Amino acid sequence: MQPSDPIPEGPERRAALTADVMARTGLNPEAIEDFLRAFYGAARIDALLGPSFEGVADWEAHIATITRFWCSVALMTGAYHGQPMQAHAHLALTPAHFSRWLALFEATARAHFTGAGADHLMERARRIARSLEYGLVPLRA
Ligand code: HEM
Repeated sequence: MQPSDPIPEGPERRAALTADVMARTGLNPEAIEDFLRAFYGAARIDALLGPSFEGVADWEAHIATITRFWCSVALMTGAYHGQPMQAHAHLALTPAHFSRWLALFEATARAHFTGAGADHLMERARRIARSLEYGLVPLRA
């Protein structure tokens, strides 16, 4: 799709937007899954984040869910239907968890993707992390 082409309406619209984002960023579902395996491989052994992941019963199920989430967020595939806020409610996350999560996510993204791909993910990761943090961290500890 050229920048001057109109974005199609109807059923082709989502596919056109996804194809456009993939072409601009170099991101695609397989590369996103590989990146997420690396990120969670590091997060689960991280001194601060690791303990929160000890309760994950099925890592393959988590990778599948989180891949759908990131493909929906970054590629607009619409494949994720879940409740991220509720999934974290019992974890007692603090601002330090969010800043460590973002630093590790960014280091892993920069190692896996071009600048445009990593920037695209980070813009969304920061926005969603901020909204989860506002929702989850109590006003007074
Ligand atoms: C601040 C540190 C964070 C920790 C320790 C953490 C930990 C977790 C854990 C333990 C789960 C449940 C996994 C399972 O039982 O299968 C989960 C789910 C999830 N997390 Fe996080 N998380 C953090 C931040 C984030 C952020 C910033 C995002 C998004 C940008 C995110 C997105 C998700 C999503 C989409 C799910 C799946 C929810 C569902 O089941 O539909 N998490 N996380």
